[in-house]
Amino acid sequence: QVIHRLDYQAPAFWIATVDLTFDLDPAKTLITAKHAVKRNPAQAHGPLVLLGEELTPLRVLIDGEPVSFRQEGHELIIEAPDRDFELTLRNTCAPEKNTALSGLYTSGGSFFTQCEAEGFRRITYFLDRPDVMAVYTVTLRADKAKYPILLANGNLLEQGDLDGGKHFAKWHDPFPKPSYLFAVVAGDLVAREQRITTRSGKEHLLQVFVRRGDLDKTEHAMNSLIASIIWDEARFNLPLDLERFMVVGVSDFNMGAMENKGLNIFNTSALLASPATATDADFQRIEAIVAHEYFHNWTGNRVTCRDWFQLSLKEGLTVFRDREFSMDMAGSDSARAVQRIQQVRNLRAIQFPEDAGSMAHSVRPDSYTEINNFYTATVYEKGAEVVGMYQTLLGREGFAKGMALYFQRHDGQAVTCDDFAAAMADANPDSPLSTRLEQFKRWYSQPGTPHISARGEYDAAAHRYTLVLSQRNGKATEPQLIPVRMGLVGHEGQALPLQLEGDIEARGTETVLLLEKAEQTFTFINVLVDPTPSLLRGFSAPVLLEDGLSDPELLTLLRFDSDAFNRWEASQRLGLKRILRAVQGGHALQLDHAYLEAMRAVLRHPQLDAAFKAEALRLPDAAYIAEQLEVVDPQAIHASVEAAWDQLAQALRGDWEWAFEAHQVKGGYRPVAEDAGRRALANLALAMLVRESTRTGEPVWPGRAYQQVKDANNMTERFGALAALVNAHAGLADAALSHFHQQFAHEALVVDKWFMLQARAPERDGKVFERAKKLLQHPGFTLKNPNRARSLLVQLCNMNPGAFHRADAGGYVLWAEQVAAMDAINPQLAARLARAMDRWTTLAEPYRGAAQVALQRLAERSSLSNDVREIVTKALEGA
Ligand code: ARG
Ligand code: ZN
Repeated sequence: QVIHRLDYQAPAFWIATVDLTFDLDPAKTLITAKHAVKRNPAQAHGPLVLLGEELTPLRVLIDGEPVSFRQEGHELIIEAPDRDFELTLRNTCAPEKNTALSGLYTSGGSFFTQCEAEGFRRITYFLDRPDVMAVYTVTLRADKAKYPILLANGNLLEQGDLDGGKHFAKWHDPFPKPSYLFAVVAGDLVAREQRITTRSGKEHLLQVFVRRGDLDKTEHAMNSLIASIIWDEARFNLPLDLERFMVVGVSDFNMGAMENKGLNIFNTSALLASPATATDADFQRIEAIVAHEYFHNWTGNRVTCRDWFQLSLKEGLTVFRDREFSMDMAGSDSARAVQRIQQVRNLRAIQFPEDAGSMAHSVRPDSYTEINNFYTATVYEKGAEVVGMYQTLLGREGFAKGMALYFQRHDGQAVTCDDFAAAMADANPDSPLSTRLEQFKRWYSQPGTPHISARGEYDAAAHRYTLVLSQRNGKATEPQLIPVRMGLVGHEGQALPLQLEGDIEARGTETVLLLEKAEQTFTFINVLVDPTPSLLRGFSAPVLLEDGLSDPELLTLLRFDSDAFNRWEASQRLGLKRILRAVQGGHALQLDHAYLEAMRAVLRHPQLDAAFKAEALRLPDAAYIAEQLEVVDPQAIHASVEAAWDQLAQALRGDWEWAFEAHQVKGGYRPVAEDAGRRALANLALAMLVRESTRTGEPVWPGRAYQQVKDANNMTERFGALAALVNAHAGLADAALSHFHQQFAHEALVVDKWFMLQARAPERDGKVFERAKKLLQHPGFTLKNPNRARSLLVQLCNMNPGAFHRADAGGYVLWAEQVAAMDAINPQLAARLARAMDRWTTLAEPYRGAAQVALQRLAERSSLSNDVREIVTKALEGA
């Protein structure tokens, strides 16, 4: 059943308070609910229709009197009186059978919940929609020995012992909230605790709950939480509004984490870190996710979404906020630029293909079948880019004003993306945004990535530079408002002063052009030398830019641009051009002297930071390369990228040796940006050296890498060395893999990495695919744990095109089997894997035909979940 955005209607009833009692038992949990219900006078008279899934109803009372009810599908229909009333419900559910991990489920012998988007209806019958906001009181009753810790949202009112070895805890959350923010946890957990006093002088208790044995991996999460609290107060004036803020880790979880009011629940992979088990990237990701969930307390919880079409209202905004936080935490300008580079690399590798493929949707979708399929890179990452464009158009202060007005108007409400846009514009009446708001809002309604093309012409005699910008978007019709941050760079690298014809004032050396028409001409005057345009600095809009710059111009930007992002972009463009030329020409890639020397110059540069160098020397991702092509031959792309790496390894061999030695970090491990940058470059250098040595048969570097796998004092270096061996298909790879597995067999998150690395290695002669297939039989593999299933299957099918797309269609056959098997256990996870075929229509033969057959086979199965059905149907519609 397809749900449409424009069909939204306010609910016919409101529920003001909810009182829930849980008698927790893994096989059969009893839930008693008392709701204060009233009619919404604005809606037509009718029965009360509650939603419930996988529940057994026991009884329904209105004001204490049993009433009759009927069930139709997932609806519980109750004839309701024409006045306010108290509704009492009793039902049971079966947590230990809940492998979908939505609603109330068990993991490692404890109870957890996940209610976003529609999990609450798997706990009890309810008006399970985000515009119904209630004040919750929750009593948990359970065996005291098995479940010593009993948690729910808000403040603890009471706890004590009961007969029969049981105990109880009663919690109250003073803030009205939608059901998707409800949470309970019960189990044998331990907590790291910290008391803090915030700016207002209020005291708060912060707790991070994990399984016994994991406490030593919670320090980083706690530090990240404290930093997030301080930052949100300082940057946006948004304080912590609760006496107690709890974070809980769980090993079985469908997503990264969940912002339940006062009781955030995290996938352990997004929470636990120690130097011995987590890499720099893990530390960074944990900091960002802890911040993200904490920031939701305002952007999502205090002000929530009216309906699920508005998801980006909270997600795009909160991703924007966690990015700003991460950049502030990173410190230096260069470290900020590296963060931006990583965001854009990720956007291009995941969101761009999504926006061009069968699941393309706008930031605010118009329809969906299964809302869980719309927790996407478009809603999150492109949504964050849209929020970032408000800041670009309004400035930091203007943006902060808009935020203040948004909370002033909407605190405690469930609202829409339009409300956010209006607050931003109304707080800044004189801004370029407020006069162009309707056009700007096309970013919410139009799917697809706009393609911008730029052509510049210099008139030496008149000292004029004319820049023609045009936009087109194959998935949309109306021109969008595109802020193009830019500058002009002279041959010696000087930033040229900018003055637009007709402007009274000069604009310094950097400005933001507003591209609002299909085509627009910008004329700069008093330009004394032939400039190189540096466009879209900092990636000021989520677009594909074709500026037709020549190699010498790109080299000028790479050497001189004052914008670090565009220096990196030049490095990527130089690589991309060469790879595309080889792929399109159907010939072997041969890197030229000029390119190799430019890369050597980056590597040896005396001023650039190591982290930046590691990013600039990395080649573009296969998925982004594929997006530049009409017809995609994944094996041709794979071969070219591999050839490029081989040649970089060979031509810069002496430089890689220098880089490896020069970037060793002395002293103890600290997860700080500067050290992480050095480790990233040393790891890249080691990968290059092992690759080159494996090619030539020299033993020294593979031997050193093997030694590093054994001796490193932190996971970043250990895993970097292991990856170098595995990715190069070095002779020592197998020995290193088994050593590593043995050493970390009891650390589930590290074993996940072990699977991931093998599933993601660059394919060679089908070995990676064969190995991944074997790993499906490994005793440590299971489809029931999402982290483990993802680490093998999503890595192989969605992230490793060179291994997945096979002339014999083996990848697609495996994919179809595994999607079906997973779907019977966990539809959300299966739908994620199903998305490996999003871009099948652009594939060259024989891949395209084989992909279609696999999709059709899967679609023919009668038992598919709504989740997978929607993905597969949309994929086949593209044929
Ligand atoms: N709101 C969560 C976050 O962004 C994501 C939870 C989504 N869960 C789901 N089952 N779709 O942090
Ligand atoms: Zn979120």
